Amino acid sequence: MIVTTKKLFEAAYGKYAIGAYNINNLEQTMGLFRGNLESQSPFIIQISKGARSYTHKKMLEGLIRSADEIFHEAVFAVHLDHGDEETCYDCINSGFYSSVMIDASHAEFEKNIEITRRVVEAAHAKGIVVEAELGQLGGVEEHVAVDEANAKLTDPAQALEFVQRTGVDSLACAIGTSHGAFKFSGSQGLRFDVLAQIQERLPGFPLVMHGSSSVPQEEVARINAAGGKLDGAKGVNEDEFARAATLGVTKINIDTDGRLVWTRVHREHFRDNPSDFDLRPVGKIFMAEYAKFIAAKNVKLGSAGQLQAVRALLG
Ligand code: G3H
Ligand code: 13P
Ligand code: ZN
Repeated sequence: MIVTTKKLFEAAYGKYAIGAYNINNLEQTMGLFRGNLESQSPFIIQISKGARSYTHKKMLEGLIRSADEIFHEAVFAVHLDHGDEETCYDCINSGFYSSVMIDASHAEFEKNIEITRRVVEAAHAKGIVVEAELGQLGGVEEHVAVDEANAKLTDPAQALEFVQRTGVDSLACAIGTSHGAFKFSGSQGLRFDVLAQIQERLPGFPLVMHGSSSVPQEEVARINAAGGKLDGAKGVNEDEFARAATLGVTKINIDTDGRLVWTRVHREHFRDNPSDFDLRPVGKIFMAEYAKFIAAKNVKLGSAGQLQAVRALLG
Protein backbone atom coordinates (compact mmCIF):
# COMPACT_ATOMS: atom_id res chain seq x y z
CA MET A 1 0.00 0.00 0.00
CA ILE A 2 1.45 3.35 -1.04
CA VAL A 3 1.10 6.08 1.60
CA THR A 4 2.66 9.50 2.10
CA THR A 5 5.85 9.90 4.10
CA LYS A 6 3.83 12.24 6.34
CA LYS A 7 1.66 9.31 7.51
CA LEU A 8 4.74 7.21 8.25
CA PHE A 9 6.34 10.09 10.16
CA GLU A 10 3.25 10.50 12.34
CA ALA A 11 3.75 6.94 13.56
CA ALA A 12 7.52 7.16 13.92
CA TYR A 13 8.27 10.62 15.34
CA GLY A 14 10.49 10.56 18.41
CA LYS A 15 10.46 6.75 18.57
CA TYR A 16 12.18 5.36 15.50
CA ALA A 17 13.27 6.27 11.96
CA ILE A 18 11.92 4.97 8.66
CA GLY A 19 14.50 3.55 6.27
CA ALA A 20 14.57 5.33 2.91
CA TYR A 21 16.23 3.04 0.38
CA ASN A 22 17.22 3.91 -3.20
CA ILE A 23 16.42 1.43 -5.93
CA ASN A 24 17.29 1.16 -9.60
CA ASN A 25 16.26 -2.26 -10.80
CA LEU A 26 14.23 -5.45 -10.41
CA GLU A 27 16.60 -7.27 -8.07
CA GLN A 28 16.77 -4.35 -5.65
CA THR A 29 12.98 -4.03 -5.75
CA MET A 30 12.48 -7.71 -4.85
CA GLY A 31 15.13 -7.66 -2.11
CA LEU A 32 13.73 -4.43 -0.68
CA PHE A 33 10.16 -5.71 -0.36
CA ARG A 34 11.29 -9.08 1.00
CA GLY A 35 13.57 -7.54 3.61
CA ASN A 36 10.94 -5.09 4.79
CA LEU A 37 8.29 -7.77 5.12
CA GLU A 38 10.68 -10.16 6.83
CA SER A 39 11.39 -7.46 9.41
CA GLN A 40 7.77 -6.21 9.41
CA SER A 41 8.83 -2.63 8.67
CA PRO A 42 7.16 0.30 6.96
CA PHE A 43 9.62 1.85 4.51
CA ILE A 44 10.29 4.52 1.88
CA ILE A 45 11.33 3.74 -1.67
CA GLN A 46 13.59 6.45 -3.04
CA ILE A 47 13.93 7.07 -6.75
CA SER A 48 16.64 9.45 -7.89
CA LYS A 49 16.77 11.32 -11.18
CA GLY A 50 19.50 8.90 -12.27
CA ALA A 51 17.35 5.90 -11.35
CA ARG A 52 14.45 7.32 -13.38
CA SER A 53 16.60 7.54 -16.48
CA TYR A 54 18.59 4.30 -15.96
CA THR A 55 15.97 2.45 -18.00
CA HIS A 56 12.79 4.52 -18.31
CA LYS A 57 10.91 6.45 -15.65
CA LYS A 58 7.90 4.17 -16.21
CA MET A 59 9.94 1.00 -15.68
CA LEU A 60 10.50 1.44 -11.93
CA GLU A 61 6.90 2.50 -11.57
CA GLY A 62 5.81 -0.79 -13.16
CA LEU A 63 8.14 -2.81 -10.93
CA ILE A 64 6.86 -1.12 -7.79
CA ARG A 65 3.20 -1.51 -8.75
CA SER A 66 3.83 -5.24 -9.32
CA ALA A 67 5.69 -5.58 -6.02
CA ASP A 68 2.78 -3.86 -4.28
CA GLU A 69 0.50 -6.62 -5.63
CA ILE A 70 2.88 -9.48 -4.83
CA PHE A 71 3.71 -8.18 -1.33
CA HIS A 72 0.24 -6.83 -0.54
CA GLU A 73 0.98 -6.49 3.18
CA ALA A 74 3.73 -3.88 2.56
CA VAL A 75 3.21 -0.24 3.59
CA PHE A 76 5.54 2.24 1.91
CA ALA A 77 5.95 5.70 0.42
CA VAL A 78 7.26 6.36 -3.09
CA HIS A 79 9.60 9.33 -2.91
CA LEU A 80 11.62 11.33 -5.45
CA ASP A 81 15.16 11.70 -4.08
CA HIS A 82 17.07 14.98 -4.69
CA GLY A 83 14.67 16.38 -7.27
CA ASP A 84 15.12 19.58 -9.24
CA GLU A 85 12.02 21.69 -9.81
CA GLU A 86 11.18 20.24 -13.21
CA THR A 87 11.50 16.61 -12.03
CA CYS A 88 9.37 17.40 -8.98
CA TYR A 89 6.53 18.64 -11.21
CA ASP A 90 6.86 15.56 -13.42
CA CYS A 91 6.54 13.29 -10.36
CA ILE A 92 3.71 15.34 -8.84
CA ASN A 93 1.77 15.08 -12.10
CA SER A 94 2.53 11.37 -12.58
CA GLY A 95 -0.09 10.22 -10.07
CA PHE A 96 2.42 7.68 -8.74
CA TYR A 97 4.74 9.41 -6.28
CA SER A 98 3.38 10.12 -2.79
CA SER A 99 6.31 12.34 -1.81
CA VAL A 100 8.96 14.45 -3.52
CA MET A 101 12.20 16.05 -2.42
CA ILE A 102 13.05 19.43 -3.86
CA ASP A 103 16.75 19.94 -3.41
CA ALA A 104 17.56 23.59 -3.91
CA SER A 105 20.16 23.53 -1.12
CA HIS A 106 22.81 24.78 -3.57
CA ALA A 107 20.88 28.05 -3.99
CA GLU A 108 21.18 30.90 -1.52
CA PHE A 109 18.62 31.03 1.32
CA GLU A 110 15.96 33.27 -0.30
CA LYS A 111 16.15 31.44 -3.63
CA ASN A 112 15.90 28.05 -1.86
CA ILE A 113 12.74 29.31 -0.10
CA GLU A 114 11.26 30.64 -3.37
CA ILE A 115 11.80 27.37 -5.29
CA THR A 116 10.70 25.15 -2.40
CA ARG A 117 7.54 27.23 -1.84
CA ARG A 118 6.50 26.77 -5.51
CA VAL A 119 6.97 22.99 -5.33
CA VAL A 120 5.09 22.78 -2.01
CA GLU A 121 2.10 24.61 -3.53
CA ALA A 122 1.98 22.32 -6.55
CA ALA A 123 2.44 19.16 -4.46
CA HIS A 124 -0.04 19.99 -1.72
CA ALA A 125 -2.70 20.76 -4.33
CA LYS A 126 -2.49 17.06 -5.22
CA GLY A 127 -2.10 15.62 -1.71
CA ILE A 128 1.61 14.98 -2.17
CA VAL A 129 4.11 15.86 0.55
CA VAL A 130 7.46 17.59 0.19
CA GLU A 131 10.93 17.26 1.71
CA ALA A 132 13.41 20.08 1.21
CA GLU A 133 17.04 20.58 2.18
CA LEU A 134 18.82 23.34 4.03
CA GLY A 135 22.56 23.38 4.58
CA GLN A 136 25.28 21.66 2.64
CA LEU A 137 25.97 17.97 2.97
CA GLY A 138 29.54 16.99 2.31
CA GLY A 139 32.65 15.62 3.86
CA VAL A 140 33.68 17.73 6.82
CA GLU A 141 37.42 17.29 6.87
CA GLU A 142 39.27 16.88 10.14
CA HIS A 143 41.66 19.75 9.38
CA VAL A 144 38.87 22.25 8.65
CA ALA A 145 38.38 24.93 11.34
CA VAL A 146 35.21 24.59 13.42
CA ASP A 147 33.72 27.85 12.10
CA GLU A 148 34.26 26.78 8.53
CA ALA A 149 32.77 23.33 9.16
CA ASN A 150 29.76 24.79 10.99
CA ALA A 151 29.05 27.13 8.06
CA LYS A 152 28.16 24.11 5.94
CA LEU A 153 25.83 22.61 8.52
CA THR A 154 22.16 23.55 8.82
CA ASP A 155 21.71 26.74 10.81
CA PRO A 156 19.00 25.97 13.43
CA ALA A 157 17.56 29.51 13.37
CA GLN A 158 17.36 29.47 9.57
CA ALA A 159 15.70 26.03 9.73
CA LEU A 160 12.72 27.45 11.63
CA GLU A 161 12.31 30.37 9.21
CA PHE A 162 12.70 28.03 6.22
CA VAL A 163 9.98 25.66 7.41
CA GLN A 164 7.59 28.49 8.31
CA ARG A 165 8.00 30.31 5.00
CA THR A 166 7.93 27.27 2.69
CA GLY A 167 5.24 25.11 4.32
CA VAL A 168 7.42 22.08 3.67
CA ASP A 169 6.52 18.77 5.36
CA SER A 170 9.99 17.55 6.37
CA LEU A 171 13.50 18.97 6.36
CA ALA A 172 16.78 17.36 5.32
CA CYS A 173 19.47 18.77 7.58
CA ALA A 174 23.23 18.78 7.15
CA ILE A 175 24.57 17.46 10.46
CA GLY A 176 27.95 16.10 9.42
CA THR A 177 27.14 13.28 6.99
CA SER A 178 27.93 13.12 3.29
CA HIS A 179 26.89 10.95 0.36
CA GLY A 180 28.94 7.99 -0.82
CA ALA A 181 31.40 5.53 0.70
CA PHE A 182 34.02 7.99 1.99
CA LYS A 183 32.29 10.04 4.66
CA PHE A 184 34.77 10.79 7.40
CA SER A 185 38.52 11.03 7.13
CA GLY A 186 39.03 10.69 10.87
CA SER A 187 37.06 10.72 14.08
CA GLN A 188 34.23 13.02 12.97
CA GLY A 189 30.67 11.82 13.40
CA LEU A 190 27.11 13.06 13.64
CA ARG A 191 26.71 16.55 15.09
CA PHE A 192 24.10 15.80 17.74
CA ASP A 193 24.60 19.29 19.19
CA VAL A 194 23.34 20.88 15.95
CA LEU A 195 20.52 18.33 15.62
CA ALA A 196 19.34 19.06 19.17
CA GLN A 197 19.27 22.81 18.43
CA ILE A 198 17.21 22.21 15.28
CA GLN A 199 14.72 20.04 17.18
CA GLU A 200 14.45 22.65 19.91
CA ARG A 201 13.27 25.18 17.32
CA LEU A 202 11.13 22.71 15.40
CA PRO A 203 9.62 20.40 18.02
CA GLY A 204 7.53 17.62 16.52
CA PHE A 205 8.69 18.42 12.98
CA PRO A 206 10.12 15.48 10.95
CA LEU A 207 13.83 15.78 10.14
CA VAL A 208 15.70 13.79 7.52
CA MET A 209 19.25 12.49 7.57
CA HIS A 210 20.85 11.98 4.16
CA GLY A 211 24.19 10.27 3.58
CA SER A 212 23.53 7.71 6.29
CA SER A 213 25.10 4.54 4.95
CA SER A 214 27.27 2.84 7.55
CA VAL A 215 29.75 1.41 5.00
CA PRO A 216 30.35 -1.79 7.01
CA GLN A 217 34.07 -2.48 7.27
CA GLU A 218 33.48 -6.21 6.79
CA GLU A 219 31.74 -5.47 3.49
CA VAL A 220 34.60 -3.21 2.37
CA ALA A 221 37.17 -5.89 3.30
CA ARG A 222 35.29 -8.57 1.34
CA ILE A 223 35.00 -6.32 -1.72
CA ASN A 224 38.71 -5.50 -1.57
CA ALA A 225 39.60 -9.19 -1.11
CA ALA A 226 37.61 -9.95 -4.26
CA GLY A 227 39.47 -7.40 -6.38
CA GLY A 228 37.87 -4.11 -5.30
CA LYS A 229 39.71 -0.94 -4.38
CA LEU A 230 37.77 0.80 -1.64
CA ASP A 231 40.53 1.52 0.85
CA GLY A 232 39.59 4.16 3.39
CA ALA A 233 35.83 3.82 2.89
CA LYS A 234 33.97 4.82 6.06
CA GLY A 235 30.37 5.55 7.07
CA VAL A 236 27.98 6.57 9.83
CA ASN A 237 27.83 4.55 13.05
CA GLU A 238 24.44 2.80 12.77
CA ASP A 239 24.23 2.52 16.55
CA GLU A 240 23.67 6.31 16.52
CA PHE A 241 20.40 6.05 14.57
CA ALA A 242 18.34 5.47 17.72
CA ARG A 243 19.64 8.66 19.35
CA ALA A 244 19.01 10.64 16.15
CA ALA A 245 15.42 9.34 16.14
CA THR A 246 14.77 10.65 19.64
CA LEU A 247 15.97 14.06 18.37
CA GLY A 248 13.36 14.18 15.59
CA VAL A 249 15.01 12.28 12.73
CA THR A 250 12.20 10.24 11.17
CA LYS A 251 13.75 9.37 7.80
CA ILE A 252 17.23 7.97 7.25
CA ASN A 253 18.55 7.70 3.67
CA ILE A 254 20.59 4.69 2.65
CA ASP A 255 21.85 3.99 -0.86
CA THR A 256 25.60 3.34 -0.77
CA ASP A 257 25.32 0.34 1.59
CA GLY A 258 22.99 -1.37 -0.88
CA ARG A 259 25.49 -0.74 -3.67
CA LEU A 260 28.19 -2.34 -1.52
CA VAL A 261 26.05 -5.47 -1.05
CA TRP A 262 25.63 -5.65 -4.83
CA THR A 263 29.36 -5.17 -5.43
CA ARG A 264 30.42 -7.76 -2.85
CA VAL A 265 27.96 -10.39 -4.12
CA HIS A 266 28.93 -9.95 -7.76
CA ARG A 267 32.70 -9.72 -7.18
CA GLU A 268 32.77 -12.79 -4.96
CA HIS A 269 30.45 -14.79 -7.21
CA PHE A 270 32.43 -14.28 -10.39
CA ARG A 271 35.76 -14.69 -8.59
CA ASP A 272 34.59 -18.04 -7.20
CA ASN A 273 32.78 -19.15 -10.35
CA PRO A 274 34.96 -17.92 -13.21
CA SER A 275 33.24 -20.06 -15.81
CA ASP A 276 29.74 -18.81 -14.88
CA PHE A 277 28.00 -16.50 -17.34
CA ASP A 278 24.43 -16.78 -16.13
CA LEU A 279 22.85 -13.69 -14.55
CA ARG A 280 20.23 -15.56 -12.54
CA PRO A 281 22.33 -17.46 -9.96
CA VAL A 282 24.12 -14.28 -8.89
CA GLY A 283 20.89 -12.29 -9.09
CA LYS A 284 19.23 -14.73 -6.68
CA ILE A 285 22.12 -14.44 -4.22
CA PHE A 286 21.93 -10.65 -4.44
CA MET A 287 18.16 -10.54 -3.78
CA ALA A 288 18.58 -12.75 -0.69
CA GLU A 289 21.57 -10.79 0.60
CA TYR A 290 19.89 -7.44 -0.02
CA ALA A 291 16.77 -8.61 1.83
CA LYS A 292 18.97 -9.72 4.74
CA PHE A 293 20.74 -6.35 4.75
CA ILE A 294 17.44 -4.40 4.76
CA ALA A 295 15.98 -6.47 7.60
CA ALA A 296 19.10 -5.97 9.74
CA LYS A 297 19.20 -2.22 9.00
CA ASN A 298 15.56 -1.84 10.03
CA VAL A 299 16.44 -3.30 13.44
CA LYS A 300 19.02 -0.51 13.87
CA LEU A 301 16.50 2.12 12.72
CA GLY A 302 13.89 0.80 15.12
CA SER A 303 11.34 0.37 12.31
CA ALA A 304 11.45 -3.44 12.52
CA GLY A 305 8.24 -4.83 13.97
CA GLN A 306 6.29 -1.56 13.43
CA LEU A 307 4.26 -2.62 10.38
CA GLN A 308 1.10 -3.73 12.19
CA ALA A 309 1.04 -0.59 14.34
CA VAL A 310 1.34 1.57 11.22
CA ARG A 311 -1.41 -0.38 9.48
CA ALA A 312 -3.64 0.13 12.54
CA LEU A 313 -2.94 3.87 12.47
CA LEU A 314 -3.89 4.04 8.80
CA GLY A 315 -7.22 2.37 9.62
O1 G3H B 1 21.94 10.94 -2.81
C1 G3H B 1 22.01 10.34 -3.88
C2 G3H B 1 21.63 8.93 -3.96
O2 G3H B 1 22.63 8.11 -3.43
C3 G3H B 1 21.25 8.56 -5.36
O3 G3H B 1 22.35 8.43 -6.19
O4 G3H B 1 21.80 9.91 -8.10
O5 G3H B 1 23.50 8.08 -8.34
O6 G3H B 1 21.06 7.54 -8.15
P1 G3H B 1 22.18 8.51 -7.80
P1 13P C 1 24.43 7.29 1.23
O1 13P C 1 25.35 7.62 0.11
O2 13P C 1 25.12 7.45 2.56
O3 13P C 1 23.81 5.94 1.12
O4 13P C 1 23.25 8.38 1.23
C1 13P C 1 22.13 8.20 0.39
C2 13P C 1 21.26 9.40 0.32
O5 13P C 1 21.37 10.34 1.08
C3 13P C 1 20.25 9.42 -0.73
O6 13P C 1 19.54 10.61 -0.77
ZN1 ZN D 1 20.78 12.30 -0.26
